[in-house]
Amino acid sequence: MMSQNKNPFATSGSVSEEVKAFYDRYPYPRPVESLDAYRRRWDDLQRRRADFHLFWPGKFFQQEFSILVAGCGTSQAAKYALRWPEARVTGIDVSETSIYHTQQLKQKYNLDNLQVGQLPIERMGELGKAFDHIVCTGVLHHLPDPDAGLKALREVLKPDGAMHLMVYARYGRTGIYMMQEFCRRLGIHAHDMEISDLIAALKELPQGHPLEYLLRVAPDFQNPAELADALLHPQDRAYSVPEVFEFIHKAGLEFGRWIRQAPYDPHCGTMASIPQSPRISGLPLPEQYAAVELFRGTMVRHSLVVYQNSTPVQQVSFEGDAWLGYFPIRMSDTICIEERLPPGAAAVLINRNHTYRDLYMPINATEKLLLDAMDGNRSVADIIEKTWSSKPETSERNVARVFFERLWRYDQVVFDISRQTERNSARLDSH
Ligand SMILES: C[S@@+](CC[C@H](N)C(=O)[O-])C[C@H]1O[C@@H](n2cnc3c(N)ncnc32)[C@H](O)[C@@H]1O
Repeated sequence: MMSQNKNPFATSGSVSEEVKAFYDRYPYPRPVESLDAYRRRWDDLQRRRADFHLFWPGKFFQQEFSILVAGCGTSQAAKYALRWPEARVTGIDVSETSIYHTQQLKQKYNLDNLQVGQLPIERMGELGKAFDHIVCTGVLHHLPDPDAGLKALREVLKPDGAMHLMVYARYGRTGIYMMQEFCRRLGIHAHDMEISDLIAALKELPQGHPLEYLLRVAPDFQNPAELADALLHPQDRAYSVPEVFEFIHKAGLEFGRWIRQAPYDPHCGTMASIPQSPRISGLPLPEQYAAVELFRGTMVRHSLVVYQNSTPVQQVSFEGDAWLGYFPIRMSDTICIEERLPPGAAAVLINRNHTYRDLYMPINATEKLLLDAMDGNRSVADIIEKTWSSKPETSERNVARVFFERLWRYDQVVFDISRQTERNSARLDSH
């Protein structure tokens, strides 16, 4: 229930005025007028199922839930309202300009399921509401006190809720911090003229400068708002993997998974072939991720799923037999390539959201059969039965186990583990 007698979105105080002014002047992301393509993309039940089970592998799929988009910027809350038409979406931001653009989209797309208002994250509790899902991307690292911001969000997360966070990653942004320091020393501020001069100067950046790689892989730095966001932000900090873990633990939250986990996984891509790979795999998971971040060196953000630490969460596991009852669902934006293949491969699987080029997954002819049998509505046990119509041997079960685990590690699938039944494993055990 909303608190009584006052406008819950009336704002003041407790927020960095400088950050607010910055986003009023340079709203982020660049305002968009049309979300038609976005709506078409999400008008796809499998895409929504995959998204749901990324956050809740162990919950039955549902489309009616509550979502908070905290620090929603110009369009993110409207996008969530379009993506989940049956959900109740609340978008908050401190920037009037961002709220204005969100209101425009709300009107244009008749988003009756969206409520939007000006409110700092730090005062979220005043809404008197709790949410199933909280999305907070690109915001906490700009707060004067990110710990207080995250705690405020944790307080409005339902006990079985899931939060999607994105914070800047420390090492990959080294070049940005060098250039921020350059701007500070020269007194360059976020004004249009200064920004166009800065864009001109960056074109002359010497080869090998730590920022050069980023400018190459992030073409949106050519856009003033995004360049200003990166280089001239009045308040910005970044987190290494161990700092991410410390950050969430301090707020009473527990790590669930990375939104895309292959880049952090020593079993995936180049990381699997370096001599230290087995040693990394022997470490506890947070330390594996920390080592991989250091080795990769160029991660610019960390996107993750977190839960309340007091609520046990059902996790995907390939120990025991439960995996036979999992329902694999292809992740959105995955593709299967069948041309110009490496020797012995029947196909190569790619997740187009990966920025690292080494994260492709070659599969052999048997694995291709398993892949082809996946339709989002078959359990792993069903898929095994369909692939080996005679009774599967233990060795075939192992082939399947290794394959489905790899698919999962490589961000090719998420699992709906809410429907696992005794029947599935019993059925295969009896063979
Ligand atoms: C980089 S933008 C990210 C926008 C959006 N989350 C996205 O990923 O597209 C950061 C947003 O956080 C908002 N913001 C900054 N500090 C805030 C605070 N204390 N409370 C709520 N919003 C805040 C800014 O106004 C801005 O719109």
